[in-house]
Amino acid sequence: MDLLGDADPTGAGPGQRLMVSRALPLIYERVWRPLGGRLLMGALGPDMEGERRIALAMLRIGDGDAVLDVACGTGNFTRAFAAAAPGGTVVGLDASRTMLAQAAREPGGEGVAWVRGSATDLPFRDGSFDAVCCFAALYLIEEPERAVAEIARVLAPGGRVALLSSVARGPVPAGAADAVVRRVTGVRIFGRDELTGALREQGLTDVRRRIAGLAQFVSASRPPA
Ligand SMILES: C[S@@+](CC[C@H](N)C(=O)[O-])C[C@H]1O[C@@H](n2cnc3c(N)ncnc32)[C@H](O)[C@@H]1O
Repeated sequence: MDLLGDADPTGAGPGQRLMVSRALPLIYERVWRPLGGRLLMGALGPDMEGERRIALAMLRIGDGDAVLDVACGTGNFTRAFAAAAPGGTVVGLDASRTMLAQAAREPGGEGVAWVRGSATDLPFRDGSFDAVCCFAALYLIEEPERAVAEIARVLAPGGRVALLSSVARGPVPAGAADAVVRRVTGVRIFGRDELTGALREQGLTDVRRRIAGLAQFVSASRPPA
């Protein structure tokens, strides 16, 4: 379902333009994303299967759950969520037509609802989802703080969220690293406490972070009603 029409909320940087290209989705899942994960997380970081295990452990998806995968790309995580939520509702949302077209072609995603929409203006009511994931995308999204606020808004009481994004490490100040990397690639480098702080500001609790190389996995939950 395309809820954006002619609108394109993805940015103008090289990283963002690649995501809406025709070519990248064809090699995204099997070549681009595993290589990118290695570069970001280092040789000892989790591989794609490991990342899926981390996402599932953070999201604790069960039978009948409603699950949203924000910026789902070709659905490489969304399909695992669908398998973990028999009888549930699983939505993969992305702004890229070409990524979603590839997602719909991949086997295993038959029960998933693919939605073309914006991470910064999620087309869902407050508290709609038991679990919300956003992996490898906040650093490409133009207004990531708005996306975090939207993710928190659609999370039901007792719901869980899992994020994977960049994090500044080492002696170079986060602001300087971000300024250089973002200008060249369009990819944002988050300060160490930026995402965890943003989740807390949205009223989420149990905020936990696991760092792998230049990446951070962050989980949190909305307190039960
Ligand atoms: C690197 S892919 C991540 C895909 C998948 N989540 C993963 O971990 O492999 C980033 C995705 O973010 C999407 N994206 C970027 N800006 C967006 C926005 N404002 N709203 C929705 N999706 C966006 C891109 O189209 C792209 O598919």
